[in-house]
Amino acid sequence: MSHTPDTVVETLAALFAEQGAKSYLGESVTMAEHMLQGAWLAEQQGESDEIIVAALLHDIGHFAGDRGTFALTDTEDRCHESTGAALVEAHLPPAVVACIREHVAAKRYLCAVDPTYADTLSKASQHSLRLQGGPMSTEEAADFARHPHLEAILKVRLLDDAGKEAGRRTPDFAHFAHRVRRLIEAHARRAS
Ligand SMILES: [Fe+2]
Repeated sequence: MSHTPDTVVETLAALFAEQGAKSYLGESVTMAEHMLQGAWLAEQQGESDEIIVAALLHDIGHFAGDRGTFALTDTEDRCHESTGAALVEAHLPPAVVACIREHVAAKRYLCAVDPTYADTLSKASQHSLRLQGGPMSTEEAADFARHPHLEAILKVRLLDDAGKEAGRRTPDFAHFAHRVRRLIEAHARRAS
């Protein structure tokens, strides 16, 4: 990825434009619709730039490389969360990167600590849960609960789960671009 705030935003916008129409197999929305819905819900809830942008980009790993989206027939986890986090790690604040990297772990955590949570997941998400290791063990959950960005991670997970409604209208990537740019600039200032 290029290295000015504008070129990073342009690269992300291009990924949405070129790959956003990919189907999110097992769901009735495209990958772009799914992520835009999460970001839009976050914005309507008055969430911070970090939460909105993390929701917007949490599945960006599905657009990276040739891995594509997971399929209901997959027999192994494709680790899109790590791919996505690695893609934006140099450019966005640690809280945002953590939300992307941990959004699958957050599902495994919530399944472990809230017995009603798994029932709220879509069929596709329940399927991928099995490939992703199933609910965390008690020890894993206790460890995860100490994550410094736990609250943000869980918020983004719930936005992920909520962003799967067919036909829900949202703004497009351009609507959120200024928030992405603002976070990239803030991160660059902190890093320099
Ligand atoms: Fe997602």
